[in-house]
Amino acid sequence: MTESTTIRWEQDETGIVTLVLDDPDQSANTMNQAFKDSIAAIADRAEAEKDSIRGIIYTSAKKTFFAGGDLKDMVKAGPEDAQQIFDAGTGIKRSLRRIETLGKPVVAAINGAALGGGYEIALASHHRVALDAPGSKIGLPEVTLGLLPGGGGVARTVRLMGIADALLKVLLQGTQYTPKRALDDGLVHELAATPEEMLAKARAFIDANPESKQPWDVPGYKIPGGTPSNPRFAANLPAFPANLKKQLNGAPYPAPRNILAAAVEGSQVDFETALTIESRYFTELVVGQTAKNMIQAFFFDLQAVNSGASRPKGIEPRKVRKVAVLGAGMMGAGIAYSCARAGIQVVLKDVTAEAATKGKAYSEKLCAKAVSRGRTTQDKADALLALITPTADPADVAGCDAVIEAVFENPELKHKVFQEIQDVVDPDALLCSNTSTLPITALAEGVSRPADFIGLHFFSPVDKMPLVEIIKGERTGDEALARAFDLVRQINKTPIVVNDSRGFFTSRVIGQFMNEGVAMVGEGANPASVEQAAAQAGYPAKVLSLLDDLTLTLPRKIRNESRKAIEEAGGTWPEHPAEAVIDRMVDEFGREGRSGGAGFYDYDENGKRTGLWPGLAEHFAKPDAAELPFEDMKERMLFSEALDTVRCLEEGVLTSVADANIGSIMGIGFPAWTGGVLQYVNGYEGGLAGFVARAHELADTYGERFLPPALLVEKAERGETFTDA
Ligand code: NAI
Repeated sequence: MTESTTIRWEQDETGIVTLVLDDPDQSANTMNQAFKDSIAAIADRAEAEKDSIRGIIYTSAKKTFFAGGDLKDMVKAGPEDAQQIFDAGTGIKRSLRRIETLGKPVVAAINGAALGGGYEIALASHHRVALDAPGSKIGLPEVTLGLLPGGGGVARTVRLMGIADALLKVLLQGTQYTPKRALDDGLVHELAATPEEMLAKARAFIDANPESKQPWDVPGYKIPGGTPSNPRFAANLPAFPANLKKQLNGAPYPAPRNILAAAVEGSQVDFETALTIESRYFTELVVGQTAKNMIQAFFFDLQAVNSGASRPKGIEPRKVRKVAVLGAGMMGAGIAYSCARAGIQVVLKDVTAEAATKGKAYSEKLCAKAVSRGRTTQDKADALLALITPTADPADVAGCDAVIEAVFENPELKHKVFQEIQDVVDPDALLCSNTSTLPITALAEGVSRPADFIGLHFFSPVDKMPLVEIIKGERTGDEALARAFDLVRQINKTPIVVNDSRGFFTSRVIGQFMNEGVAMVGEGANPASVEQAAAQAGYPAKVLSLLDDLTLTLPRKIRNESRKAIEEAGGTWPEHPAEAVIDRMVDEFGREGRSGGAGFYDYDENGKRTGLWPGLAEHFAKPDAAELPFEDMKERMLFSEALDTVRCLEEGVLTSVADANIGSIMGIGFPAWTGGVLQYVNGYEGGLAGFVARAHELADTYGERFLPPALLVEKAERGETFTDA
């Protein structure tokens, strides 16, 4: 018999066995090979000593209950490995099933986060008691990593709550529930306020239910809400694939399709067969490129970024107490809210008290909404709002240890507002600008302490967008960079770090995407096809609608400024075919975008899109031109961003692959299925060499801007990929 190394067997005198999940080699429990062996050993022992057992409780000695599948294994898993761990006949699933059907009550005492595989252990228990611990999360987020719950999660949620609820509430969105919401939605049976209460409730269940079984192991069990073989249910079923299709918009995400198939096929067969079907669909996903991409990005890269891979080493962490936010417009108001939500005092300053108060009203609106939806309490909302002091008086920023400037995008004005407050705030206060386009090095010339000056580029809407791009100017000190990094983490956002350059990383690269979409319109492509190509490539926003929202005059202004700077420095501006299209749209047709009521789209009087502007076809169509291949349209958008990202690496604007991947997905909507803009290159068919070959093809057909940069060609020749290691 193999020994259990990651699960402790603790049996009390009444015959209750507590299985303490406690992997000695990791800070969190995962479904690794050691767990597979341990749970098999536990199942053997439970069967052998069955007569002395009255009930079983799963709980964990870690802060979290159980972290889920072992992503280190999964990211490199071939078909056999995946099969080994999750095989329904021999793997972890089999052992959990043996314990589930031992004939004794099984309870999960969920002492902390139970996501993915963790919640699957809980689902293989007859009763679930969750500790209502702050920050604790419960659910099956596999879909967000391009996977499906392969440890029985699909088969059991379908049987627990019916196919419709299982798909919509748990499987397809990957929602992570707080314990309270998990209780409301039927994911757990009971909550407990303390670990002692949790274990007492688990024991009470065992005492009261000595013969307990899973609902699906009771003869005559029927799936709640019916199965596809029931005519009433069958009538509704087509809505699922249709809704899914609409939700995915044609983007290449295999996980939702496999989840749907595993749920529907599994609902029509017995439970054991459903487990086998689920394993088959799981294996297909785990060996595929999309899951590997998404695990790399959302697990490894995100962890590297948030844990400070780009933060200078050896500098003591610092927390901000009181921040001055200068400018209470759209961005300043959102920044003030995000800081106050993290418990930081905020002085929100604008030119007039009215404007500052209006900025604070934005937080009041968000708080009222959160209270009405039960996401926070009135007391907490009041406490948050009490942290924000609106003002027009520069003297009020006294005592601030950080400043975030978000006034109009004008360098003289930015200099002026810093001069107004730099002698009032703490003498070593961190000085940040939220500029979206102005070079940080030049802005730093306007303050008395350029070493403490740094770019902190937030995205709109600030309260929702998780990313902040930190921009290091030439004179920015390491101390300021570390402090800016700590501030972004303090407000629970994800910081990427880049060096100063026009448009930094994010604005520069997303500009390529928009330019490429517009260039296709100029080549006479059907604008609806351009939009559809962006959607099918997996972009969350369609390209022409995105540009309308931004306004067409903004890229033109940025282009003119950049061109001037490049030409003054003796360089040549690389013309892009999009420029002529934008110029015609603005100068000839007066269509500046959504805020002006007309752009690539038409708008009604409430600013709602009513359809693509028919004039596009009339003025830009080229009746004799061959239709652009759809695949080319998609790849032109993806390649334009990937190639410019490689140039950012080459120029030293970017210094980290993880920052590029995370920044591209979280900041500028690069499709998540790719794992980020450089992982897209790594995962391209044929690897870097395949990518280089395709770039040459695109360059031959569409222009030299697709020529691969030297760094890419060299790496391809050496057989390397883009990685930070
Ligand atoms: P906005 O026009 O909504 O707000 C600017 C605010 O600054 C106004 O309330 C104005 O009264 C105030 N202001 C002007 N002079 C001032 C002074 N002397 N002292 C204090 N306040 C003053 O502009 P928005 O969109 O919030 O942008 C602000 C900054 O953030 C700009 O630099 C912009 O480039 C940048 N940014 C904007 C993004 C966006 O999506 N709008 C995204 C990222 C950065």
